[in-house]
Amino acid sequence: MKIAIILGTRPEIIKMSPIIRECKKQGIEYYVLHTGQHYSYEMDRIFFDQLQLPEAKYNLDVGSGLHGKQTAKMLAGIEEILIKDRPDVVLVQGDTNTVLAGALASSKLHINIGHVEAGLRSFNRKMPEETNRIVTDHISDYLFTPTETSRKYLMDEGIPEERIFVTGNTVVDAACQNLEISKNGANILDKFGLKEKEYFIATAHRAENVDDKKRLSGILKGFSQIHHEFKLPLIFPAHPRTVKMINEFGFEVPEGTHLIEPIGYLEFLQLEKGAKLILTDSGGVQEERCILKVPCMTLRENTERPETVDVGANLIVGTDERIIQGTRKMLESSFEWENPYGNGDAAELILKELQ
Ligand code: UD1
Ligand code: UDP
Repeated sequence: MKIAIILGTRPEIIKMSPIIRECKKQGIEYYVLHTGQHYSYEMDRIFFDQLQLPEAKYNLDVGSGLHGKQTAKMLAGIEEILIKDRPDVVLVQGDTNTVLAGALASSKLHINIGHVEAGLRSFNRKMPEETNRIVTDHISDYLFTPTETSRKYLMDEGIPEERIFVTGNTVVDAACQNLEISKNGANILDKFGLKEKEYFIATAHRAENVDDKKRLSGILKGFSQIHHEFKLPLIFPAHPRTVKMINEFGFEVPEGTHLIEPIGYLEFLQLEKGAKLILTDSGGVQEERCILKVPCMTLRENTERPETVDVGANLIVGTDERIIQGTRKMLESSFEWENPYGNGDAAELILKELQ
């Protein structure tokens, strides 16, 4: 069996890393095809270095752009590579434009597609990710879902049961494999002068939030209110898209919010683990801190990770007054919940099913 692993953005590199490691361990033939959707050092290369991943065999260097142009460049590039270096199966992970292009190119070439993290639904068609998920799920041959909830969503959409495998999410494998390693490295809390449970962290990058003046302003106001009420620093490793939009709208970063460049995964895991509370619109961060037992508030109106809300680990607060109200509420709650995303053996289960 030969596998082509297609990836292109920060979360895909992190969540595919356990599968790459498992392929190496089991001696399975594979190659990595990077679309180049993310390309800045701190959004791309740093993860290959920290996670000791092999170089991608192919990199399309597509870069940023409008959805149509970016996806089209990927589609053309992926097709060419799959024709000359045909695998038995293509693996894509998540819901980015890279995933859509990878799945579409494979489908037209009649190459089997495995969708890792299948069956997530926000039921918000305005999110580009929702379109990517739905299309990819419906043309995939093997759908690896993180939970029973996502399996049910797929079955409700008429996807045959025999294509669906509940494996857990490789985000657990990655967190378990790297948390220990991260403890051996430099202590990021010391670097920023932080004390455990005496700081907040926040991330935001969703287009529907940061490209919208009112919503981005609401998020920054929420950060300010939290700092004034709790007198603790809020560390904000900001995605390049967010920095660009803060500048474009001419917003000031509020007092108490420390905007920093995106940081490496090993450092980010340490920061997450030590935080009092996390505010985010990221999918991966909602999952990770549920595993690390740190409470979270989601700066959106919905989530495709309802399991985190169901177990009491996550509150949906949008981008307005609900941020400060939710912070008060969340900090009074218990921090005990079950991790809904599996035991950290998702990569092994996925490869077992494929074989
Ligand atoms: C993409 C995914 C999103 C995912 C996120 C992970 C789509 C539609 N969106 O969003 O689902 O959650 O990645 O982080 O696929 N930029 C850089 N350097 C980079 C990459 C991006 O400076 O390495 C800047 C550019 O200004 C670019 C902007 O960020 O225009 C947005 O990048 P893009 O890849 O289009 O979308 P993301 O917001 O990263
Ligand atoms: N992450 C990181 N450094 C940061 C912020 C996030 O390594 O400064 C990691 C985080 O641990 C998680 C992933 O990036 O595994 C989430 O990616 P992102 O929020 O960009 O995308 P999403 O999960 O929303 O698609």
